[in-house]
Amino acid sequence: MSLRSKTNELRKRMKNAASGGGDKAIEKQVAMGKMTARERIIALLDENSFQEYDLFVEHAAKDFDMDKKYLAGDGVLTGTGLMNGYPVCIYAQDFTVAGGSLGYMHARKIVKIMDHALKLQVPLIGINDSGGARIQEGVNSLAGYGEIFYRNTLASGVIPQISVILGPCAGGAVYSPALTDFVFVVDKISKMFITGPEVIKSVLGEEISMEDLGGARVHAAITGNAHFYAESEKECFTQIKTLFSYIPWNNKNKAKAYPIKMPKSRTFKIGSIMPSDSKQPYDVRDVIRAISDNSDFFEIQAMFAQNITIGIARVNGETVGIVANQPMYLAGVLDVDSSDKAARFIRYCDAFNIPLLTLVDLPGYLPGIDQEHAGVIRHGAKLLYAYSEATVPKITVILRKAYGGGYIAMCSNHLRADFVFAWPTAEIAVMGPEGAANIIFRKEINEAADPDKMRQEKVEEYKTKFANPYVAAAYGYIDAVIEPKETRRFIVHALEISKNKIIHNPDKKHGIPPF
Ligand code: HXC
Repeated sequence: MSLRSKTNELRKRMKNAASGGGDKAIEKQVAMGKMTARERIIALLDENSFQEYDLFVEHAAKDFDMDKKYLAGDGVLTGTGLMNGYPVCIYAQDFTVAGGSLGYMHARKIVKIMDHALKLQVPLIGINDSGGARIQEGVNSLAGYGEIFYRNTLASGVIPQISVILGPCAGGAVYSPALTDFVFVVDKISKMFITGPEVIKSVLGEEISMEDLGGARVHAAITGNAHFYAESEKECFTQIKTLFSYIPWNNKNKAKAYPIKMPKSRTFKIGSIMPSDSKQPYDVRDVIRAISDNSDFFEIQAMFAQNITIGIARVNGETVGIVANQPMYLAGVLDVDSSDKAARFIRYCDAFNIPLLTLVDLPGYLPGIDQEHAGVIRHGAKLLYAYSEATVPKITVILRKAYGGGYIAMCSNHLRADFVFAWPTAEIAVMGPEGAANIIFRKEINEAADPDKMRQEKVEEYKTKFANPYVAAAYGYIDAVIEPKETRRFIVHALEISKNKIIHNPDKKHGIPPF
């Protein structure tokens, strides 16, 4: 056979292997508003950069007439490419081929590209669109998932791992994403559940739609399983590219710095953001934008546990992870979900050499039977653990309230913040003035001719004595009380001089965080 005819045969084979599940299945996919697996990869990666591998892999299953079925690429595309000019490893499950279900060879393809990513120290992107373990392949598909979960865990904190949920993902198809750093979902397209509505109905008799059980909004706002929510696949891909512009390739590198044009010492007016009445809420994102380069802030888990705001910004060109109490929701209190949300993000930043900026304004941990029974002790402790073990530069600014355990937990001097600054509006105390006055002056208040007047006087007395930054500053727990308009200048300087920070935690195999 001549080279030409061999080349033609190769082309024919490639066309066949790249054909997915056939026209009918592709039509169904498109009718659901979904791109095909190949279109997704092409849309996400830099133009013409996708290099596919293992196109000719086929399944080896025999049972349930599987030996008579051809599954193109065994239902998954794998390869390498560039994103924003940087190398990445990628896979995309093809729902048009046996529902993207994961058989043994399908898993082998994914495992192979995961091994490449870890070996080459580049990020891994997984586009998930799968009905889970391929039922016909029995334990071999479970084995495949096990191999994937193991690698997800080994790669955790070494290379960025991104999961994109673009279809109904069930069973094993949701556990790999849960082990990765960031999960992206798209309205109406993404669904995630361990067991679907039909199983729930037959086992428990409960009826629920797929959307209400595990739709994009459910995971972005209620469960916290998703970190980014988009209205369309296109918007989702833009979000992924934005995220990649902020983070490093691996844990040996720092994120790329972007030179800035704006002055390091840009000032802003506190009056326009923080209300003069300390009980009034404000949007902490306005403070973040006032500090960040070009007022950009890339928020993460924006719809979940909104009493804490987390996200990434650049300050003086450098990527910074921001954790801020959000007074607009529940007065910025810490609870089970907000502690989980912040603690995981702190560990992400620490693993990938991203300095942490913490903005504090909270009345403490949320009291209540629900929270106590939901394990606020265990979950709240995650925040203490994450901040304490983090060795990246840690800069804290106390904006207003820093009461009780909340003061300690929000990256205080005692958890080894490198720099703690406080605005003159800061109130650092064991608890709020009203609660404190009621306890320590109870006798005087009860015995007074006018208890309300006496209570007010004692609240004022307490405020003057303790609800300010100067007592903490007198003990050196605050490094500087600063004018709000100078916040950016102080942070920029702190970041600049922390660039070569080196601290080591005690030598150990690993800690035992309150998971
Ligand atoms: C084999 C599967 C499959 C699976 C879907 N298909 N899931 N084949 N194994 N797990 C096939 C269907 O038979 C169908 O094939 C095609 O994919 C499209 O599926 P449809 O049902 O027609 O699509 P849709 O109506 O959109 O429903 C999608 C779905 C549903 C919600 C995902 O297919 C479903 O519920 N699948 C089973 C989900 C599940 O229970 N998975 C858990 C597996 S156990 P044809 O030939 O008709 O086109 C597991 C354990 C791992 O994952 C545990 C790890 C911890």
